[in-house]
Amino acid sequence: MRQKLLSEGASELSYEIREIVKKADQLRKLGLTISWENIGDPIQKHHKLPEWIKTIISDLMKEDDTYSYCPSKGMQETREFLAKQTNAMDGVQITAEDICFFNGLGDAISKAYQFISRTSRVIGPTPAYSTHSSAEAAHAAHEPLTYKLDPNNKWYPDLEDLYNKVKYNPNIVGILIINPDNPTGMVYPLEILKKIVDIAKEFNLFLLADEIYINITYNGARAYSLAEIIEDVPGISMKGISKELPWPGARCGWMEYYNRGKDEDFNRFCQALDNAKMIEVCSTKLPQVAIPKIFGDPRFKVYREETNQNIGRRSRIIADILRTVPQLTFNETFGAFYNTIIFRDGTLNSKQKIKIEDPKIKALVEGWVSQDNIALDKRFVYYLLGAKGVCVVPISSFCSELQGFRVTLLEEDEQTLTNTFTAIRDGIVEYLAS
Ligand SMILES: Cc1ncc(COP(=O)(O)O)c(C=O)c1O
Repeated sequence: MRQKLLSEGASELSYEIREIVKKADQLRKLGLTISWENIGDPIQKHHKLPEWIKTIISDLMKEDDTYSYCPSKGMQETREFLAKQTNAMDGVQITAEDICFFNGLGDAISKAYQFISRTSRVIGPTPAYSTHSSAEAAHAAHEPLTYKLDPNNKWYPDLEDLYNKVKYNPNIVGILIINPDNPTGMVYPLEILKKIVDIAKEFNLFLLADEIYINITYNGARAYSLAEIIEDVPGISMKGISKELPWPGARCGWMEYYNRGKDEDFNRFCQALDNAKMIEVCSTKLPQVAIPKIFGDPRFKVYREETNQNIGRRSRIIADILRTVPQLTFNETFGAFYNTIIFRDGTLNSKQKIKIEDPKIKALVEGWVSQDNIALDKRFVYYLLGAKGVCVVPISSFCSELQGFRVTLLEEDEQTLTNTFTAIRDGIVEYLAS
């Protein structure tokens, strides 16, 4: 090329969660049946949307107006409806103008970091959800900046680590929280959120909250939203329908801007995000017109509560199976639909194995694990995949120094769920004893 083509940050873009799928597909082609524990897709795990939701959507599809253009920032009525919901929480107050729709949160996330000045950084949690950490790292052309979530303290953030990193890195302009968290299933307690608000105040930062799982809590937990706790700090909440409806293929998520009027720089940032949408001629109309009809229906609350309770019940089944392994650090989950399980220090080494009967599968797995410097948890994950056909994601793929793996709490067929997690436990026991 005449000039350098690729941006510096492009090498930071990776979605390791998908890498494991390529490996699993190779094994599937050799005849192995795979239990897909790698992706948070309720439908793949036998979840059925209630008929009344499908009826609302199919009725909308019969109306001509559904096929016309709509405002690039999103349908006015829908933004008014969502602003009202936020205002009812008795925290920060917003109007429809403070809401902007994106083509899913993935789009919102990449736009948000894209418009932050290259030298300014947003610090996020580790284990890190890669859509955020990759996009932030790509914008800065540096590796992600992270604060630790602590597996020995219910996955709560290590506030001292966060405070010190913010204090000693003047480039940090914002703190990301993912509440409830992916991949740990942790729900931020109110006191911790308040302390994060205090850090933002002390250092004049903005807060970014990914709240795609905000209505998915169970086992007695309640997630406090950014709107409730932010006081007068500038902030953005990111919300969407991919998880709580669930309807990821609608590619529909939105940002809510809080306290724009409190800081001119922040206000200009929000304006730039709106302008980025304005250069597109339309937004995702069908899901947007469906939102007030679905969220405004009293049946939605009942549906969500039942679905959450079921996730909670499955989380306890999984806990009963995996808690019995002393070499693991296991935390109960309270939100979203994942659990991250950690191998205690010193329990993994590069000699461990699980027996694989099929010679072709065995050869493939042995080839993968013979790579130089392969992370020890990835090595375990490959053996588990080859020997038991269970596809989980290594935690080292989430910008983490910890060793472990992420599973989902989604399988609705409880016998299948029990079989899968028993296979995981048996795999771990054999691997650690080998
Ligand atoms: C924390 C978090 N944010 C955002 C997304 C992506 O959402 P969307 O489907 O709206 O792009 C996910 C998907 O798994 C997620 O876990």
